[in-house]
Amino acid sequence: MTKSSSPASERSTGGKLWEFFDQRLGLSGILDIALHKTVPQHSQSVWYFMGGLTLFFFLVQIVTGTLLLIYYQPGGNAYDSVRRITYDIDFGWLIRSAHSWSANLMVFVLFVHMFSVYFMKAYRRPREFGWWSGLVLMVLTMTFGFSGYLLPMDELSFFATKVGLEIPSKMPLVGPAAASLLRGGPTVGQETVHRFFALHVVILPALFMLFLTFHLFLVQRHGNALPPSEERKPESARRSIRFFPDFLLKDLAMWLIALNVLGLFACLYPWDLGLKADPVASTPVGIHPEWYFMSQFQLLKVLGNWFPGAVGEVIGILMVTISGLVWALVPLFDRSSDNKMMSRVGTWIGILALAGLIALTVWGYAAL
Ligand code: HEM
Repeated sequence: MTKSSSPASERSTGGKLWEFFDQRLGLSGILDIALHKTVPQHSQSVWYFMGGLTLFFFLVQIVTGTLLLIYYQPGGNAYDSVRRITYDIDFGWLIRSAHSWSANLMVFVLFVHMFSVYFMKAYRRPREFGWWSGLVLMVLTMTFGFSGYLLPMDELSFFATKVGLEIPSKMPLVGPAAASLLRGGPTVGQETVHRFFALHVVILPALFMLFLTFHLFLVQRHGNALPPSEERKPESARRSIRFFPDFLLKDLAMWLIALNVLGLFACLYPWDLGLKADPVASTPVGIHPEWYFMSQFQLLKVLGNWFPGAVGEVIGILMVTISGLVWALVPLFDRSSDNKMMSRVGTWIGILALAGLIALTVWGYAAL
């Protein structure tokens, strides 16, 4: 056997393939970044998995949503097409159940992610844009949920959307026009389903991908933030692990657990389909939005009862808007652990926000 003088001919097929792709796509550059990236390791490291878990549920949404698209028909046939998916198409119930459960789990881990980065003070310099892009992703996720809820056009989804769209219509000046634009007419109907469908499958995914790319780029750029308790330690006492493969393997293990949890929920509690919505029927009692809108719903309901006319609802909308603005602006005043006063103000805003959300949600369900 003659030994080849050319190094290329000595390389295995795998090596040659790697070289082919590397030369054209710059893969070694990406691998180099992954190999040098590290993730801090400390008592609160578990929170670093929450963003990845949110991403996992979003990916499930894309896969299951695309499968649902094959049989779903917006407009007049919406309910019947969902009925067919649920009862006639093989495994249709499973895909629909997984899509709905994954949406809820995504919102849940998203809240955990947001509050964990908040209490770790990961919004501080230089991560302000990570915080703001995250907030945009959160608004987009909630809008995904709101627009998707109507699509089956069963009783609950129809009336909850009808009630939900009455809220912005109470806003002075722009309110009625905005509500009518979303509804596509004076009442919720087929036109609304078409609009929500376009929002749900085209506009929101496009915007989401854009902001997600920005968000993940920033995470890569700045690395994971250290919580204040770790920041105080001398550098020699801090520990970290390699992102590739150590953190990534743990991340994947988390995804596997999440997949199992999702499978259990989707199979043990298959997503229900109510009766077909009757637009001329009166709104049934106890109609309520999804759990993640319950706190706002309860606030508006209570204020609506306290004040005459639409005054209470307008106050409620203003309160929610101002709270959202304060939440977004926290990185501008709580900027470093050195400013103890502002740091404490930031922490208390977080505690109040979390307690307020939980209290209003529980109150909302208790008052149904
Ligand atoms: C909706 C989809 C979202 C996805 C898929 C997502 C994904 C991620 C991922 C993968 C990370 C890196 C790992 C980690 O620290 O958890 C991260 C970090 C971060 N996210 Fe999100 N995120 C989302 C929403 C949000 C929201 C709503 C906020 C807050 C308003 C937010 C704020 C941040 C911040 C500040 C970091 C940096 C954390 C650090 O440096 O340790 N993200 N995100």
